[in-house]
Parts: sequence; C-alpha cells; structure tokens
Amino acid sequence: MAKKVILTGDRPTGKLHLGHYIGSLTNRLKLQDEAEEYVMIADAQALTDNADNPEKVRQNVLELMLDYLAIGLDPEKTVFFVQSALPELPELTVYFLNLVTLARLQRNPTVKNEMKQKGYGANVPAGFLTYPISQAADILAFKADLVPVGEDQLPMIEQANEIADTFNRFYGPVFKRAKALVSSTGRLPGIDGKAKMSKSLGNAIYLSDAEKTIKEQVMKMYTDPRHIHVEDKGKVEGNVVFTYLDAFDPDKSAVGALKRQYRKGGLGDVEIKKRLIEVLESLISPIRQKREKLAKDPERVMSILEKGTKKAGETTRKTLAEAKKAMKIDYFR
Ligand code: TRP
Repeated sequence: MAKKVILTGDRPTGKLHLGHYIGSLTNRLKLQDEAEEYVMIADAQALTDNADNPEKVRQNVLELMLDYLAIGLDPEKTVFFVQSALPELPELTVYFLNLVTLARLQRNPTVKNEMKQKGYGANVPAGFLTYPISQAADILAFKADLVPVGEDQLPMIEQANEIADTFNRFYGPVFKRAKALVSSTGRLPGIDGKAKMSKSLGNAIYLSDAEKTIKEQVMKMYTDPRHIHVEDKGKVEGNVVFTYLDAFDPDKSAVGALKRQYRKGGLGDVEIKKRLIEVLESLISPIRQKREKLAKDPERVMSILEKGTKKAGETTRKTLAEAKKAMKIDYFR
C-alpha cells in the first residue's frame, strides 16, 4: 500500500510553544515514521497580516526550523519547505479563487475571529481574507491524506475540501479530500487559563524557554482562586496546573492521587506547581539543548530547508500540470 501523505505547516511569526506541541507536533513526530510527511513554513501566509514586517517573518523561518529539528522531526523522514519558494502554490490559488464566494470567505469562523481580534472590519487586507484559499492550495497541491493541526484549523481543511469537490466537479478528478488530525487531548489553555495558549496573549510556555522562565510561568499559573489555605478543598476542573499535568505528566496514577488529595484538602498549590515544573523541564530541557547546538550552525539548518523545498517543488509542479490540463489551459508542452 502507498504511504499516506501528510501536509502541515506553521506561520513563521514566533517560536513554537506547548500548545503546538500537544496540538500537532506530537502527531507529526509519530507520523514521520510511517508516512510521507511534508512540513511547510507558511511565510507567504504570515505576510498576509504582517505585510509591513517582513523582518519578523524572515527571522522566524530559522526559529521554526530550529524548533522542528530540536523536537525530533528528522530531515531524513520529513520534508521541510518554505511556502514562498514554490510559485505553483499561488498559481493554484488564483484558479481556486474562482471557486469560492466572498460570502463563504466571510463565514470562515477562524478568519472571522482573527479579523475581530485585529480589528480589521472592512479594511481587512484582501490577502488575509483569502488566505484559506491559499491554504487549500498548500494542502491540495500535495494531495494530502492527513493534516495534523490544532483545532482552530478545522475550518481551513473544510474549506479546502469544498474547493477540491468544486474543482473536481468542474474539471474532472484531480484533487483529493484531506482529513484533519487533531490531538485527542484537546486544546491547551494558556497559563492564565482563559484562552488558548498564544504569543499575542503572553500566556505561553515555549519549547525553547529557559528553566527560569518555565518556573516563573508555572508559578504564575491560574489554579483555583478559592483554594487559599493548604487545608482548603481545591478544584481540579479548570485548574491549569492539573490540565497541564494531565497533558504532560507520564505518571497518570500519581496525578490521579494528587487530584484526590487536592480535592480533599491538604495539598498546596506550590506543591503541585513544583511537580509541574519538573515535568515540563524534563520535556523541554533536551529540546532546549538540541536547539542551542543546532543554532550554532544556521547555514546547515537553512540548507536542510533548501533541500526539502527542492523536493517539495517536484510534487507541486506535477499537481499544477494536472490541474492546468484538467482546466484546458495546457497549451504548450
Ligand atoms: N494556518 C496555519 C497556521 O496558522 C499554517 C498553515 C498554512 C497550514 N498552510 C497550511 C497548516 C496547510 C496546515 C496545512 O498555523
């Protein structure tokens, strides 16, 4: 049987954090052993809301590569590439733009949400409003079977599949529907417990954070505001420390015992926070060390990206040729 194709990616706008780790990186790590995996650095998509800040996007391309390699994505197994270097992707996007209405774009819940956050209103950059179409091109160009992403990306995959269906109906069967793969753990809240972990909210713990930073962030974590004295009964639900222990502590039965004790009273917040600091430090410290080593040779890291981009281009050229043939715009050979 042919290997499944995995395509996923991230915008280079910041370093990766624990939310990414739980949301999609663990799935990517697992799948690289059994599938044909592509991981894209979505620099063109990052520019849709950072048009005036190309320096930020550029710097974060290397940061993302360092994160990927440090967590154990292996260039022998995973193909890394950069979106802007493959002109077939924007070309497919142009044809896909004809298959989507403005009303449909305005209904995409993730885009709607981001537009509200950024206060765009009617002054939304056209490239931003249409980025789900370009994301459809990313996914469909590789004929991906699975797309490991965080929950917030589900509407993108739904929209990509609609585009695949419409294209195939108009021009014949070229594209394949993709399935989203989200983590079973669900979305990881930020340390404030309020929303998802995100750079803009300042509530993240990064895979590259120093031990001191991890400590500070965990000590700031939202627990149970009514759990004031050690003897008090505490709430486990909505208590971020326990949410994180559930997500990252390999010793589930120990976590179960801590929860019982916390509920009953007699277990202080500092105690559970200390355990979480240890758990997170043992996850992050090998990543941090590997990252520091890799960061000493950025040229080598960028050459991995260059090599992968060449390889990915073979696939996108092939798919674009098929699409153009189906659309009857393949005039010359
Ligand atoms: N939108 C994704 C993010 O914000 C990045 C992305 C771009 C992507 N193209 C993709 C993810 C294709 C999966 C598949 O992180």
